[in-house]
Amino acid sequence: MDGLLSALKGRSLLSLLDISAEEFQALLGLASMLKAGTGSPRCIKVLGLLFQKASTRTRVSFTVAMYQLEGQVIDLNPNVTQVSRGEPLGDTARVLGRYVDIMAIRTFDQGDLEQFRDLSGIPVINALSDLYHPCQAIADVLTVRESFGDRSDLTLTYLGDGNNVAHSLMLGCALAGINVRVAVPEGYEPDKTVLEQAQAIAGDATEVTVTHDPVAAVSGAHALYTDVWASMGQEDLADEREPIFQPYQLNDELLAKADAEAIVLHCLPAYRGKEITNEAMEGGRSRIWDQAENRLHGQKALLVSILGAD
Ligand code: CP
Repeated sequence: MDGLLSALKGRSLLSLLDISAEEFQALLGLASMLKAGTGSPRCIKVLGLLFQKASTRTRVSFTVAMYQLEGQVIDLNPNVTQVSRGEPLGDTARVLGRYVDIMAIRTFDQGDLEQFRDLSGIPVINALSDLYHPCQAIADVLTVRESFGDRSDLTLTYLGDGNNVAHSLMLGCALAGINVRVAVPEGYEPDKTVLEQAQAIAGDATEVTVTHDPVAAVSGAHALYTDVWASMGQEDLADEREPIFQPYQLNDELLAKADAEAIVLHCLPAYRGKEITNEAMEGGRSRIWDQAENRLHGQKALLVSILGAD
């Protein structure tokens, strides 16, 4: 375990492109060990949380993870700092880098994270941007592995918008050796560059595919996953998107076409009756609450890998 505790020492995680397949597997292994109670590393450092968007899971799981590591957390909500007054992010980064040991940042523009990393001189973790949600994908793959073990024949199907969650899921599955199918309406495909990056990581070992056919996408799949049809900041588009996304709803009809043991995943928060039915969320195949819990274990492993144990 000792080698795992500082495997990403001093590094930032702005996307899953920042780590290798071996490092990703090691991170998942460490998360599983911490979840099982194997070892209780201490990390007496200070984590700053700068969130430009609302958050329940990411904010709380980072906070609890740091407390369990005996570290401290400072909530740098823009409303209680000079960020909301318009102080340039670069100035904030240069100052905060002299106070705290690591930052988790939720923002719109991926470029904000790069700027913060470059100017602060401390590790930065992407707590969600418009392009990626890497911490979510760590928990997602951990949950799939908990359900099916280290099998090499697994397929995860994502249904819905080709958004930040889909992007990180494609990269995470490719790193973990899991096939991934992304089923989206026309015009909502994932970013072409991210798709190509995921396919390059997967190589000949697994497949990363995009389709407009939800039925073909779920056929025989081992995990069905969805996210909201209109992400934060897109709420005004929700009504017009509803009929477009309806065929991609994660429901019992699609679940019946998946593998007999298929599990149901959602990153939350969910709109029951929209992207997922209440039955699928609450049914026996749902692993959604384990998936949410795994945010804690995945991020705790990430923090200790980057900061090292004291
Ligand atoms: N899945 C997720 O990131 O949840 P929060 O927005 O509540 O952090």
